[in-house]
Parts: sequence; structure tokens; C-alpha cells
Amino acid sequence: MNKIGTGQIQTARLLLRPYTEMDADAIYYGWASDPLVTRFLTWPTHKNADVTKAVLSDWLSRYENGDYFNWAIARKDTGEVIGNIAVVNLEEAAQAAEVGYCLGRAYWGQGVMTEALRAVIDYLFDEAGLNRVAAYHDVNNPASGRVMEKAGMRREGVFRQAKKNNRGLCDVAWYAILKSDRG
Ligand SMILES: CC(C)(COP(=O)(O)OP(=O)(O)OC[C@H]1O[C@@H](n2cnc3c(N)ncnc32)[C@H](O)[C@@H]1OP(=O)(O)O)[C@@H](O)C(=O)NCCC(=O)NCCS
Repeated sequence: MNKIGTGQIQTARLLLRPYTEMDADAIYYGWASDPLVTRFLTWPTHKNADVTKAVLSDWLSRYENGDYFNWAIARKDTGEVIGNIAVVNLEEAAQAAEVGYCLGRAYWGQGVMTEALRAVIDYLFDEAGLNRVAAYHDVNNPASGRVMEKAGMRREGVFRQAKKNNRGLCDVAWYAILKSDRG
């Protein structure tokens, strides 16, 4: 793989970019403090802005690693940071990445995450040189599965009670796309 890290990516409506320390409030107020956003996620809802600052500081310290991929999703028109998309697991030997994402509630249902995920998949294949991009979702969160599907990922199967998120143990559906699937 090419250890190029979190480079900027532009799409029609979005700029995906590395975070800066200025982004803490946008993360906290936009999604990290919202229990509706974190319902199906594995990390706990942030109880206060200090939690977000600590998490962000950890993220920033990792950007020097070329195998760290974690983007702020910003609106191109206003610059507002509205969500997050990241590689949450990387298996370098297999050239395989697992991605995770979340978006502030105000922006749901406008195709934003599909646009971001498509761009990240292209980046991981074409720039980072990976061969497989996978993701999973709680079966009770079908909107996320729809995003994966719309981004060209194929459903590979359900693992029963295989993960624990903020609602407890959950069945998860796995999706993936191979570089060769894009045609
Ligand atoms: C899941 C999430 C990322 C979706 O982002 P988004 O930008 O709203 O997604 P998009 O608008 O690109 O697409 C959503 C699709 O799901 C569909 N959808 C929404 N609710 C649905 C439901 N209950 N059942 C089935 N499909 C649903 C939408 O109709 C749309 O599909 P369509 O374009 O065919 O109509 C966003 O809601 C989110 O961040 N949720 C909280 C965090 C989270 O759950 N992250 C994923 C963890 S695996």
C-alpha cells in the first residue's frame, strides 16, 4: 500500500480533509453529543466538550502516520464540518480497510454519506493502493446498509451477535467492494 495518509478529497458538494484543533465544537455539537447519531455506534456519546477535545487531540497526533485515514466531512460551500468518515481497521498484508462513518442529524437523507463513501473508496483504491474496502452495520440500522450498497459495496453476510454497540449486542451485516468490482 501507499502510506499517503489522510489527503484532501473533493466531491461535488463536499471537501473531505484532515481535522484541525478548530473542529472540536463542530464535532461535539454536530454529532458526537447526539445520542440519536451514536445509537448504533461502538463509542459512547460524548458527555461534554472536553471528551471531544481529548478524542480530537488523539486523532491529530496520528496524522503523521501514513496509514492513518480519518476525514472531516465539510460542506464545500460554507466550510462547515458536518460528519466523519475514517478507516477504523486496516489489514496491510491483505491490502484491506474497514471504514466507519457518521453524520450530523441535520444532514441525513441528502445523499451526503453516499457521496463521501464513494470518494473514500476511490481514494483508498487509487491513491492508497488497497484492494478491499469493507464496512458493517447493525441490522437495525438499514440506512447505513443502503449507503454501502449505493456506494457499490456488495453484501457478504450477517454475523449474529458479533458486535456490541450503544444498544448492546447486535447482529451485523458486512459489505465490501474489491478494486476489481468497479469495472
Ligand atoms: C447512516 C447515515 C450515515 C446515512 O447517511 P446519509 O447521508 O443520510 O445517507 P444517504 O442520504 O446517502 O442515503 C441513505 C439511504 O438510506 C435510506 N434509508 C433511510 N432510512 C432508512 C430505513 N429506515 N430503512 C431503509 N433505508 C433507509 C434512504 O432512503 C437512502 O436511500 P435512497 O437514496 O435509496 O433513498 C447517517 O444517517 C448517520 O450518520 N447515522 C448515524 C451514525 C451511523 O449510524 N453510522 C453508520 C454506522 S454503521
